[in-house]
Amino acid sequence: MGKLAILGGEPVRKKPFPGYNIIGEEEQNAVSAVLDSGILSRYIGGQHPDFMGGPVVQSFEAAWAEAFSSKHALAVNSATSGLYAAVGAAGVGPGDEIIVSPYTMMASATAAIVYNAVPVFADIDPNTFCLSVESIKEKITPRTRAIIIVHIFGQPADMDPIMELAKFNNILVIEDAAQAPFATYKGQPVGTLGDIGVFSLNYHKHIHTGEGGVVTTNDPELAERVSLIRNHAEAVVGKRGTSNIVNMVGFNFRMGEIEAAIGLCQLKKGPSLVEQRCKNISFLERKLRDIPFLAFQECAEDVRHVYYVHPIKFNGQVSGLKRETFVAAIKAELPETELREGEGALIGAGYVRPIYLEPMYQQKIAFGENGYPFTHPSYDGTVNYEKGICPETEKAHFETLITHEMMRPPMSEDDLNDVAAAFHKINENLPQLREFETNSIGS
Ligand SMILES: Cc1ncc(COP(=O)(O)O)c(C=O)c1O
Repeated sequence: MGKLAILGGEPVRKKPFPGYNIIGEEEQNAVSAVLDSGILSRYIGGQHPDFMGGPVVQSFEAAWAEAFSSKHALAVNSATSGLYAAVGAAGVGPGDEIIVSPYTMMASATAAIVYNAVPVFADIDPNTFCLSVESIKEKITPRTRAIIIVHIFGQPADMDPIMELAKFNNILVIEDAAQAPFATYKGQPVGTLGDIGVFSLNYHKHIHTGEGGVVTTNDPELAERVSLIRNHAEAVVGKRGTSNIVNMVGFNFRMGEIEAAIGLCQLKKGPSLVEQRCKNISFLERKLRDIPFLAFQECAEDVRHVYYVHPIKFNGQVSGLKRETFVAAIKAELPETELREGEGALIGAGYVRPIYLEPMYQQKIAFGENGYPFTHPSYDGTVNYEKGICPETEKAHFETLITHEMMRPPMSEDDLNDVAAAFHKINENLPQLREFETNSIGS
């Protein structure tokens, strides 16, 4: 193999990888039909038949409920909104703690903050990257009101022991399934294993409506409370005769008819899109298996990972390289992806920084200058956000984890062969890359 691109050689590939454009004629026709109808949204934020939204939103919700075997599905305008509504519906408030993963998109934890509750970060399992039950157990206090489980990267968390622990302690479980639609745990869709599930339909997800989300639950009271928070609860509860008005402070989290029409089409495409992703991952893992400093997640047989991203574990000692040097070398070998121009090759070192290292947690300031919710008079705990509290998360993020997205359809075997070729080219040029690394550190 030739000289590494990072050392001035020719890259493995220059032509961009194909983009994940999953919007087609079906969506165009469905959107046209909504436009022709003239009804782009039919919500009324009051006690009225239209309180639950328009006909397309309601068909989308029914289809989602059926596809995911959930009694209730409520469309919202993002998973962020869905998480906020879920936490509100759970009755969480000042003085409460919510146990959550630190290795997730920020909104999973902010959902606690907006209800003036305190996020408590438990650590991840180093194989699934989801919360470990042992760590959750250590973090439970009399103040723990809920646990937010994030099925990160599309891999289901080990839900059985988590549900057992939560039931024993009378704690509600919210599943953040934003990255895991169609993932299953022991045959059951994730998002339906806990008390409430939340899915994302943003542009980057397996299926999308541009922006959007869905909340699922089998509990009719939680469903009613989510629908109230979604749509101006405080204006409606009086006429609706709602007895429990705790957290019945409403937002506008409503999804429009156009997004719902797109969602109906996307829902049908979801299973085959996920299937293609999984096929591409097995192909790629087969190709990369003999690189000694890389390792892949082990998946239990009764679990279906849907690979929102593909996590790879990197062993710096075996490679004799820093993970960042390896990732930079891959980036130099591979092109960007269409529709994601400007991001370079879709590979990175780690994922998002452990959430507690962000200023809101380091300075303990969210609402007001006095630092609510951390200093709220109802809160009698002391929460620790120091570096080091979640060692597995920090190890994954700062040392061992590589994530990439170069397996999304319509990546063909030829495209995947180019991805694998870049990895192998580096494996075959390790001495040169080590020298480059030493010289860069020295200069
Ligand atoms: C794990 C997780 N939770 C929540 C969200 C928020 O989703 P949305 O962009 O739909 O608000 C995301 C989005 O990336 C996510 O990955």
